[in-house]
Amino acid sequence: MSENGSEDAASRGRLPSLLENWISLVGMILAAASFFAVAALIAMDVFSGLPNPYMGILTYLVAPGFLIAGLLLILVGALVERRRRRRLGEGEIPRHPIIDFNRPRHRRTFVVAGVVTFLFFLATAVGSYRTYHFTESVEFCGQTCHTVMEPEFTAYQGSPHARVACVQCHIGPGADWFVKSKLSGAYQVYATLANTYPRPIPTPIENLRPAQETCEQCHWPRKFFGNAERVNQHFFSDEANTPWTIRLLMKIGGGDPELGRVGGIHWHMNINNKVEYIATDEERQVIPWVRVTSSEGEVTVYQSESNPLDPDTMEEAEIRLMDCIDCHNRPSHIYDPPSRAVNLAMSTGRISTDLPFIKKMGTELLTAEYRTTQEALSSISDSLTAAYEDDPVNPAQVRKAMDELGRIYQDNFFPEMNVDWRVYPDNVGHTLFPGCYRCHDGQHVSPEGEAVTHDCTACHVIIGQGSGARADTLAPGGLQFQHPVDISELWRSVNCAECHTGGVT
Ligand code: HEC
Ligand code: HEC
Ligand code: HEC
Ligand code: HEC
Ligand code: HEC
Ligand code: HEC
Repeated sequence: MSENGSEDAASRGRLPSLLENWISLVGMILAAASFFAVAALIAMDVFSGLPNPYMGILTYLVAPGFLIAGLLLILVGALVERRRRRRLGEGEIPRHPIIDFNRPRHRRTFVVAGVVTFLFFLATAVGSYRTYHFTESVEFCGQTCHTVMEPEFTAYQGSPHARVACVQCHIGPGADWFVKSKLSGAYQVYATLANTYPRPIPTPIENLRPAQETCEQCHWPRKFFGNAERVNQHFFSDEANTPWTIRLLMKIGGGDPELGRVGGIHWHMNINNKVEYIATDEERQVIPWVRVTSSEGEVTVYQSESNPLDPDTMEEAEIRLMDCIDCHNRPSHIYDPPSRAVNLAMSTGRISTDLPFIKKMGTELLTAEYRTTQEALSSISDSLTAAYEDDPVNPAQVRKAMDELGRIYQDNFFPEMNVDWRVYPDNVGHTLFPGCYRCHDGQHVSPEGEAVTHDCTACHVIIGQGSGARADTLAPGGLQFQHPVDISELWRSVNCAECHTGGVT
């Protein structure tokens, strides 16, 4: 009996008392406090149902950090205490703890410790799972670094992919890209905190995951699209804001002979033909060299005659395999150019076409340089008020135009990040940026003297064009392009993008 009693006292004296030190005590308070904080925060997060990125950071990153720090402190305190006692020779402290299951106290301690450890690991697993989900969420990517991601996040919300999570394009499924992106993400968090991030964020993203593993998880590259109609409504910069409509049948086509004729724009799909290229600039806008490998293995190289690639650059250049993103580089972060945004607002009645010169003025006001959004908004409203002061126009229409131009500005211009349509060229099309003409400018020629097609009907046929009702008279056989204003035949020899910038003109 007495033996048992003294044993108990000894083990009681040994095991818990190691924790009786200041460091462990602080750790215990910290761990207990943050444990309750985490529990409360998770409960709030689950029951409130409102996604809030700041709350997420607190719940899944900061509070668990304190919890773990607390637990570590308890351990460190115990170790320090143990070392101190060994040095002072206070009692016999063996190198390792002695566990004896014949003693009821050890059995009890073991069971309790086991259950606690199990619960802790379970909670950690659930917590990490929630943390993982949180760092994958649109709120985390788009809203936490508010100014940095504001342009991308805002443009994304108005895009066809507004329901697709950032990570589905930027990371994709699987562990390796998850790790890669979280590692570079850690650096980005640092750059944000240290305020060293570039403005604007450069594009293209250097090592974006190949489209096969992101876009093609939803879009089926073998699908045959056939032709799709596009109706583009324009307005001139004259007093009457004369309308001009262009209706195009885009030959989107496909790349799989089993589902349709191989041809059209999606001929580049890499199913039957492989297209590779070398770009000489970071933004991949200058492409002097293109190589096509057909399904039969036939190789053709096209080189630019107007801008040849010098052999030295050729040696060290990176050859890139063309995929979806080489054309669809703005599937989600679409910054509308002023002319397009104003055209759209006018064609949908959000800006009245009765306001004289509104197309011209709206485009000019949006294109001007501003230091802040606030400055832009006040400049827009002051200018419109001044312009229509003496005009017999409906003041409500002026107000509406003002609001709409302000909205367009806020959705597409981010002076704090130096972002607007000019810094992110869109590669689909050729009217405002080089786009398809990076290769299809008629200057890229094979050794046999064949050029990459520049034929106006290779990619689309114009089935209607003109002002008002004229555009509704469809010509299924296709029309010869008529430039809306007289520039003689200049459009044949000068690329549209050399005159058209999307801003003024
Ligand atoms: C439909 C796919 C898709 C979705 C969804 C998407 N992105 Fe992107 N993102 C892209 C592509 C493609 C690029 C351009 C890559 C290139 O040119 O290399 C890009 C570029 C970026 C860039 C670089 C700067 C720029 O504008 O080119 C940032 C930053 C970015 N995305 C953030 C986000 C955030 C934040 C979200 C979620 C709110 C998001 N993205 C959702 C496809 C997507
Ligand atoms: C998670 C699924 C998903 C992923 C990943 C995805 N998309 Fe989409 N995409 C969609 C859906 C759904 C639509 C149709 C949206 C609609 O019509 O409202 C769409 C529409 C499009 C369109 C037509 C847009 C238009 O203006 O009508 C293009 C082009 C496109 N996606 C390209 C891409 C590219 C390029 C990528 C990879 C960077 C990509 N998508 C990744 C689901 C996805
Ligand atoms: C050579 C450039 C090019 C490549 C490469 C390309 N596309 Fe396209 N795609 C286009 C063009 C041009 C259109 C028509 C755009 C328009 O009129 O708005 C289009 C249209 C689409 C559409 C909309 C179809 C419709 O009926 O409206 C989807 C979806 C799409 N592409 C997805 C993809 C995916 C996914 C990939 C990669 C597997 C891809 N594209 C590769 C140029 C390309
Ligand atoms: C990196 C260079 C490159 C870019 C960029 C490019 N193409 Fe091509 N494209 C080619 C080559 C090379 C061919 C094959 C030669 C030919 O048919 O003239 C081709 C062929 C085509 C064809 C003919 C396919 C057939 O039926 O035989 C169409 C249509 C086409 N491209 C549309 C587009 C469109 C639209 C864009 C822009 C969205 C675009 N291309 C961008 C290189 C490019
Ligand atoms: C390599 C393919 C290709 C070739 C060649 C090509 N285009 Fe286009 N074109 C496009 C694409 C892609 C668009 C964008 C369609 C869209 O989404 O609105 C476009 C758009 C247009 C538009 C509509 C512009 C607008 O803002 O409404 C016109 C007009 C046009 N092209 C005329 C021409 C003329 C004229 C030629 C011959 C000199 C030509 N295209 C050659 C691919 C091509
Ligand atoms: C030599 C310069 C020049 C070239 C090249 C040129 N344009 Fe234009 N374009 C103009 C001018 C100037 C206007 C009148 C602008 C206005 O009234 O807003 C105009 C107006 C237009 C408009 C109607 C107004 C608008 O901007 O919405 C369209 C559409 C258009 N051009 C398409 C094209 C296409 C497509 C090409 C290439 C095939 C092209 N242009 C080539 C100078 C040019």
